[in-house]
This record gives sequence, structure tokens and C-alpha cells, in this order.
Amino acid sequence: MTPARPADGIAWITGASAGIGRAVALRLLQDGWTVAVTARRAGELAALAALHPGRIIPVAGDVTDAAQMAAAVAQAEAVAGKPIALAILNAGTYVPMSAQDFDSAAFKLQVDVNLIGTGNALAAVMPGLIARGRGQLAIVASVAGYRGLPTAIAYAATKAALIAMAESLKFDLDRAGVLMHVINPGFVRTPLTDKNTFPMPFLIEADDAANRIVRGLHHTAFEIAFPRRFAAILKLLRILPYWLFFRLVARGTRGATG
Ligand SMILES: NC(=O)c1ccc[n+]([C@@H]2O[C@H](COP(=O)([O-])OP(=O)(O)OC[C@H]3O[C@@H](n4cnc5c(N)ncnc54)[C@H](OP(=O)(O)O)[C@@H]3O)[C@@H](O)[C@H]2O)c1
Repeated sequence: MTPARPADGIAWITGASAGIGRAVALRLLQDGWTVAVTARRAGELAALAALHPGRIIPVAGDVTDAAQMAAAVAQAEAVAGKPIALAILNAGTYVPMSAQDFDSAAFKLQVDVNLIGTGNALAAVMPGLIARGRGQLAIVASVAGYRGLPTAIAYAATKAALIAMAESLKFDLDRAGVLMHVINPGFVRTPLTDKNTFPMPFLIEADDAANRIVRGLHHTAFEIAFPRRFAAILKLLRILPYWLFFRLVARGTRGATG
């Protein structure tokens, strides 16, 4: 299996009105892709498309609505006159939450957008990729999905689920000829992380993240995790016994999480 190329069709990115998704859309243009961009804020998408008329196709939609995702895929492919060859399911949200301020509505929102929303986008785009027997599909999870972390009660749960989902998908998509990735970023400066009040180690800019993602998509490795050192530290934490994991993370985040 080889990575998808612009000659195969267009790219589609959800959550492309801001942050990482927007930066990846712009970065993909440099590789010759035409990119369909989806998010709820149609105005932001139109402004992005106006920067590169004809190369960016705005298709507004809410990932929590399965019908809107089906319509977005159909519209993107109809406007482009080509199928989606590369899909990056990136839309996500984060509400910091501790046990003391646990909020079921905020919990549900994160499950709906991050997990159910990714499922809705997947249901819209995956049948076409499988039918064509080629293409590339990436799910944006997070290094926060490796293990539970302070303030990430809902977020880490959804990202762990997305990693498991991507792993499960890979078995079938390998057989179908579709190249599957999970993208696990560390801290990236975006509106999502602007709400964090604690110091964010190894924080990188969205353009930097986009470069690393697109570089990863040029290869066939399943996981695209960055920054490398931060991802390596979190992978090490993942294999530690619980008693040591809890002790180290509690010490490392003391004072940061209230
Ligand atoms: N920033 C980080 O440090 C970091 C680290 C690891 C993983 N991630 C993941 O990377 C992805 C992008 O994050 P980001 O930092 O770029 O966040 P961001 O700047 O807040 O952007 C989130 C994007 O998702 C879209 N979105 C949110 N809810 C949506 C919905 N219901 N339907 C459709 N689109 C929706 C937003 O657009 P609208 O508001 O216009 O809908 C926006 O385009 C997320 O999955 C996030 O969990 C981020």
C-alpha cells in the first residue's frame, strides 16, 4: 500500500476552520492537493477558501450529525468531480474537567464530538475508500489517549477510544487496500489549548504540527506521534506499573491542575 496522491482524488479534513485542521489544509495545498474543509463555522471556511480559490472546497457541517457528514462528503466529491482519496478526521473539542467539577453535559459533548463525530465522518467517507480499494484515512486522537491524565477525564477517555478504534479499523482496511493512520499530537498552540492555564511541555505551533502530520502521511507507518521526545515520555509512562505511573504524573503535574 502506498500513500494517496493528488492524482487519486481530493483530501478532506474535518475540524478545518481553526487550529491543526486549518494548518494541515493549507500545508496539503503545497503538495498539490485540492482540499475539502469541514467544520460548523461556514464563515471561517469561506474565508479560508477565499485564500485559495478553487483549491479549497468549503463544506460546512457538524460532525455530531451523521446526515450532515454524508452530505458533506457527497458535496465535496460533486464539487471537485473527484473522490476523496485522503481523509483526515480531526474535529475535536476539549473541556478541562476535574472530579470536583465533573459535568455530565461537558462529558457528553466531548464524547459526541470526538468519538461519535469521528464515527459519523467515518461512516460517510469509508465506504467509498473501501469500494475503490485505495486511499488513506487518518484519525486524530492524542497522546492524552495513552493513559488517563489530570483534567482530561472526558477528553482522555475519548482519545483512548479513538486510538482503539483506529487500531481495530487497520485490520480491515489493510485488507481493503486503504492506508490507515492514527495521529497522536502532543501540545499544539491552538484555540483548544489556549484555555489551559498550566505550562504545556514541548508546546509546538500549529504550522509545525501540520508539517509533521503531512510528513507522516507521506509514509506508511500507522502512528504519527509528535513531538517525538514528548510522545516517547508518554509512551514510557504507558508501560509503567500503576503505582509508579500515578506517583510520577501526580508529582509532575502538582499545582498545575488545581
Ligand atoms: N491542540 C493540541 O494540543 C492537540 C493535541 C492533541 C490532539 N489534538 C486534537 O487535534 C484536533 C484539532 O484540535 P485543535 O487543537 O486544532 O482544536 P481547535 O483549534 O479548537 O479546532 C477544532 C476544530 O474542530 C471543529 N469542530 C469542533 N466541534 C465540531 C463539530 N461539532 N462539528 C464539526 N467541527 C467541529 C472546530 O470548528 P467549528 O467550531 O467551526 O465547528 C475547529 O475547526 C482535535 O481532535 C484535538 O483533540 C489537539
